[in-house]
Amino acid sequence: MGAKLLCLFIASALVAYYIYSPIPENIEEPWKLMLTSAAFRTLGHMAEAAERLGLAHYMDVLMLFSATEYVAPTSDENTTVTDTELSGVAVRLYLPKKPADGLRRAVLFFHGGGWCVGSAGMKSYDLLSRRTSSHLNAVVVSVNYRLAPRYHFPVQFEDVYSVTKFFLQSSVLSQYGVDPQRVCVAGDSAGGNLAAAVAQQLLEDSEVKTKLKVQALIYPALQTLDLNLPSYQQNQNMPILSKSLMVRFWSEYFTSDPSLREAMSSNRHVPAKWGHLFQFVNWSALLPDQLKKDHVYTSPVFGSPALAKKYPGFLDPRAAPLLAAEAQLRGLPPTYILTCEHDVLRDDGVMYATRLRAAGVPLTHEHAEDGFHGALIFVSSPNDMPVGHRLMSRYLQWLEEHL
Ligand SMILES: *[C@@H]1O[C@H](CO)[C@@H](O)[C@H](O)[C@H]1NC(C)=O
Ligand SMILES: *[C@@H]1O[C@H](CO)[C@@H](O)[C@H](O)[C@H]1NC(C)=O
Repeated sequence: MGAKLLCLFIASALVAYYIYSPIPENIEEPWKLMLTSAAFRTLGHMAEAAERLGLAHYMDVLMLFSATEYVAPTSDENTTVTDTELSGVAVRLYLPKKPADGLRRAVLFFHGGGWCVGSAGMKSYDLLSRRTSSHLNAVVVSVNYRLAPRYHFPVQFEDVYSVTKFFLQSSVLSQYGVDPQRVCVAGDSAGGNLAAAVAQQLLEDSEVKTKLKVQALIYPALQTLDLNLPSYQQNQNMPILSKSLMVRFWSEYFTSDPSLREAMSSNRHVPAKWGHLFQFVNWSALLPDQLKKDHVYTSPVFGSPALAKKYPGFLDPRAAPLLAAEAQLRGLPPTYILTCEHDVLRDDGVMYATRLRAAGVPLTHEHAEDGFHGALIFVSSPNDMPVGHRLMSRYLQWLEEHL
C-alpha cells in the first residue's frame, strides 16, 4: 500500500513537473494555458523524435494538431459555409443568410500556423470566420493557401495574393453582392504576415483597380532580419510560440535546409551587403522606451553571403513587410495591429506600428498587456480564456466601425 502510494505520488509529481511552465502573473486562468502548452510541447517532442528517426518531417507531425482540430464546412442559422476554390486556390467561404440592405462588406482572411501548419477548417479559425461573417453581415473568404515544407516562399504569398486579386475584380464582387469600397484583408500570426504583404503588393499592382478599405494584423510576423529582439529574448520560452519554433517556421518558409535555421538561431544570417535593411528593424529607434526595458542595442552581426544568395526570399518585403521602404508604406489603408506583451512577435508589430504612423497611415494599435501569442483564438472549450474573448470582440468591434 505504502509503495503504491509512493509510486502514485512520484508519478503525479512527474506529471505536474512536465505540465508546469512559468506563466506571467497577469494572465487569467493560467492553468488552461499551461495544459495547452504541455500538449504543444508533447507534440513538439514527438515531431523531433520522428524527424531524428527519419520517420516524418517535423511539420508533418505538428500538422496532426490541425488535423485533430478540423471541422467540416457546416452551415448554421446565419451563415452558409462551403469549401470551394477561387482562382484555383482552396478557400472556405462564409456567406451571410441575413438579407442585406445594400451591398455587403467582405473580409479576406489568412490563418496562422507559421506558413507550415493550420487551415481554414480548424475549429478555432472556422469559429472566428463564422463570427466575423455573422457579426458584420459580411462575406468571409478564408484561404487554404499551400504550406511548407512541401511548398516554400513565395507559394504561400502567391496563393493568398491570387485569391485577393481574383476576388477584387468587379464582376466577382458583384457576384457576391460585395461593396468594392468595403473589402479588407486580415490574418493572425503568419496570416498577419501574408495580409500585410498582400496590402503592400496591391499598391504596386496597376491591374487592380479596387483598393482595400482597411487591413487588420493580429500579432503578425513581419521581419526576418533580427530574431533576437527584446520580445524574442523576453518570451523565448513562452507558450504557445517559443523562439526556437518561430525560427523553425521562418526558416522553413524559405527552405528545409537546416543551415538557414542554424544561422537564424544565432542571428547571423544576413550578409553585410544587406546591412542597410537593419534600419527598418532597428528596435533601438523603433520601440517605445517601456518595451526596451533594460535591453541593450548591439549592432547586427553579419553572416556569410551564401545563404542570402541561395534563399533571397528572407530579404524580400513580400516575406518580411517591415523591410519595405517608407515610400512604399505611405499608400497603405487604415490599419489595425494587435500585439501581445508575452509574445516573441510583439516587437515586429510594435515596430510596424511606429513605421506606419511615421508614414502617415491611420492606425489603431491595440496592445494586450495580458496577451500571449495565439490568444485571440482561445475562445472555445477546452481552450477558452477571458483574454481570448476580449481580444476577439475588440477586433470584431474595430472591423464593425472601420470596414
Ligand atoms: C446568429 O445571429 C444572431 C443575431 O445576430 C445571434 O444571436 C446568434 O448567436 C447567431 N448564431 C450563430 C450560430 O452564430
Ligand atoms: C539604430 O538606432 C540607433 C539610434 O537609436 C543608432 O545609434 C544605430 O546606429 C542604429 N543602427 C542601425 C543598424 O540602423
